[in-house]
Amino acid sequence: MGAKSSFLTAAAAMTGLASASEVPWDTLNSTVSGRLQPAIPIEKACFTSYNGHPNTVDTETCDFIRANYTSNSLRIDNPQVYMQLTNQICVSDPSDQCVLDAKSLPATMPSSNSTCRTGNVPSYFLEVKTAADVSAAFNFAKENQGVEISVKNSGHDFMTRSSGKGTLNLWTHKLQGMTYHDNFKPQGCEKSVGAAMTVMAGVSTGDAYNFADAHNALIMGPYAPSVPISAGWVTGGGHNVFAPVFGLGADRVVEFSIVTPDGVERVANEQQNSDLFWALRGGGGGAFGVILSATHRVEPRTPIAYADIHLPSNISTDQALDWVKLLAEDSLAWGYAGWGGHVGGTFVTHFNPLPALTNDNGTAARAAFQRATDFAIALGGTSHVAVEESFSTIFNRDMVPKDTKMGGNFHFTTTRLMPTSMFESAEGIETLIQYMHEAIDMGFDPRSFYTPVTTPFVYKANDTKNAEPKDYGTSMTQAWYKALWHVESSKAIPVGSTYQERLTALTNLTTLTVKLENIMGADGGSYMNEADPYTPDWKESFYGLDNYEKLLKIKNKYDPQSLLKCWKCVGFDEEKDSDLERFACNKKIQADIIKGLKA
Ligand SMILES: Cc1cc2nc3c(=O)[nH]c(=O)nc-3n(C[C@H](O)[C@H](O)[C@H](O)COP(=O)(O)OP(=O)(O)OC[C@H]3O[C@@H](n4cnc5c(N)ncnc54)[C@H](O)[C@@H]3O)c2cc1C
Ligand SMILES: *[C@@H]1O[C@H](CO)[C@@H](O)[C@H](O)[C@H]1NC(C)=O
Ligand SMILES: *[C@@H]1O[C@H](CO)[C@@H](O)[C@H](O)[C@H]1NC(C)=O
Ligand SMILES: *[C@@H]1O[C@H](CO)[C@@H](O)[C@H](O)[C@H]1NC(C)=O
Ligand SMILES: *[C@@H]1O[C@H](CO)[C@@H](O)[C@H](O)[C@H]1NC(C)=O
Ligand SMILES: *[C@@H]1O[C@H](CO)[C@@H](O)[C@H](O)[C@H]1NC(C)=O
Ligand SMILES: *[C@@H]1O[C@H](CO)[C@@H](O)[C@H](O)[C@H]1NC(C)=O
Ligand SMILES: *[C@@H]1O[C@H](CO)[C@@H](O)[C@H](O)[C@H]1NC(C)=O
Repeated sequence: MGAKSSFLTAAAAMTGLASASEVPWDTLNSTVSGRLQPAIPIEKACFTSYNGHPNTVDTETCDFIRANYTSNSLRIDNPQVYMQLTNQICVSDPSDQCVLDAKSLPATMPSSNSTCRTGNVPSYFLEVKTAADVSAAFNFAKENQGVEISVKNSGHDFMTRSSGKGTLNLWTHKLQGMTYHDNFKPQGCEKSVGAAMTVMAGVSTGDAYNFADAHNALIMGPYAPSVPISAGWVTGGGHNVFAPVFGLGADRVVEFSIVTPDGVERVANEQQNSDLFWALRGGGGGAFGVILSATHRVEPRTPIAYADIHLPSNISTDQALDWVKLLAEDSLAWGYAGWGGHVGGTFVTHFNPLPALTNDNGTAARAAFQRATDFAIALGGTSHVAVEESFSTIFNRDMVPKDTKMGGNFHFTTTRLMPTSMFESAEGIETLIQYMHEAIDMGFDPRSFYTPVTTPFVYKANDTKNAEPKDYGTSMTQAWYKALWHVESSKAIPVGSTYQERLTALTNLTTLTVKLENIMGADGGSYMNEADPYTPDWKESFYGLDNYEKLLKIKNKYDPQSLLKCWKCVGFDEEKDSDLERFACNKKIQADIIKGLKA
């Protein structure tokens, strides 16, 4: 053992990695040209104690971090920082974390009493540059027992799937680059698929939108410039404001480049590794391999009809409920006409790319949103309904400026796809309003209600009610094709909360998860990328049981040794895996939530 490895052993002991102390990390480090970093929390600069040892506060660094704690660049460009604090904090052990409270900026100094601990952040990060880096990591995990792998791209995940105590993390954010194709032919396929863009895993949506725009094209992506489009988003389903007309991200992707756990770089499309291609179109990230890039079909850049209506934030909860009822009543007509976007307790933001809505100077659009406009104006709100030059005009003006400081939340969500049939009767809508009353009783505010209206509503069949079940070639829960909204509730928890406070809040959240399942019907489903990590019947909810069995077979084919694991991902074994150190931060609270679920 050289000086370097004894340093590493000491570093490992410091971070509490007893079992990892024999692992020859420096061998891996030299294979990957020194791109393996030990994870030391940046927030350590603000604490007087680190892993139980005295630590000197570095005021200059700490002040910078406090001022920028919610900023996307700080959180995405540093591997050990995540957009969502949920990935960094050990939910089951409030003493095991190293985060700041950023309710307002600058973030507050930690109390002198608290010590900085690693929490759920991985122990090592490998900055992936090539397929060979990923193969090296997989081989290393095979050769060294106890090396557990996690995969992180941007760290937006709500489900703690991109971190994990003690793991070696493959960090793909630095995979940057895009190519535009006038007429893309997937490798080995006979037919071309039309215009498409190959986007590497780390590219943010904002960059992809602008690149598409420069090629007179429109690419579908999330409604937040910081979320990338070629990894977690697309493999989980990938909702977008044009999904009603153009489909979800998983509907539109035509090829992946991926390194599977056998260390082989593969192309997955309809012709090659088609089982893997199917699994990646909705079966979730982090379970089948490490994606290097994905190729997505694009549409021509066209004018877009846009409705952006806001109520003042000071409305009462009853007014918010009346507003949501109005939205639910009008939503079916909007859906059939091809509108999509978001609705909330104080707003609606909807988009439509169809010529019927964009070739009349906005007359039809204004008529469609007249009732919503009147409601908002009467309460002192605002309404803007117009045909705009392009999607990126709207996005860069109205969304990008809001997005620069979206990180640093300890925030959980629950979601359920709400079937189209529920919008067809007054009873169905009343059921939703009733649910919202119950949510209010459990500490949720209807004014912060937020729901994407981004199902592939008219994409595959403009009559979802009567459409025969069809094979859409994707592996998402097929509830997506039968729904109009996916209803979300979210819960922010103070970072300094006690275990009991976390447990109460998350038991309430999971009670709502179960309630939503009950009212929306058993053959429904939820969106894994925006789901409650403590969802009890997750296989059914996130994947659908038929899909899950198929996905598991494919998982076992490409990853027979189960090198890739994540919380409630395909292949996650609740009994056995919960005992792994990497899932310790979820294990205790999950068990206690189940015990506490209200009838
Ligand atoms: C502010 C905000 C806005 C959002 N908006 C939308 C939206 O409009 N539409 C929508 O559908 N979703 C949205 N989401 C949810 C988003 O899709 C998920 O958080 C998603 O998991 C982010 O994926 P990621 O690539 O950033 O990867 P991470 O969060 O880093 O990881 C997510 C999962 O993907 C895996 N993964 C990461 N990189 C790779 C890779 N290279 N290969 C294989 N697996 C990988 C991880 O292991 C993990 O399981 C939003 C989330 C936030 C926080
Ligand atoms: C890997 O090597 C680089 C360059 O020598 C070094 O900076 C880094 O700390 C090493 N990583 C680990 C885990 O020791
Ligand atoms: C950090 O915060 C300072 C002070 O608010 C600001 O001037 C600077 O631009 C921020 N830096 C980043 C990277 O966000
Ligand atoms: C320090 O923390 C402990 C529990 O973690 C608490 O009981 C005690 O009151 C705290 N002391 C101070 C000075 O904040
Ligand atoms: C869907 O069908 C309805 C009639 O059922 C029609 O009014 C509407 O224009 C159609 N939408 C699209 C996008 O074709
Ligand atoms: C839209 O407005 C323009 C300019 O204001 C006008 O020339 C055009 O005729 C209008 N088109 C329709 C369909 O009303
Ligand atoms: C609420 O806000 C609106 C618009 O900002 C304002 O006109 C109205 O007076 C406010 N109402 C109350 C009750 O504060
Ligand atoms: C949880 O729900 C109960 C009602 O069941 C409510 O009284 C309580 O305030 C809620 N607590 C939190 C933290 O949301």
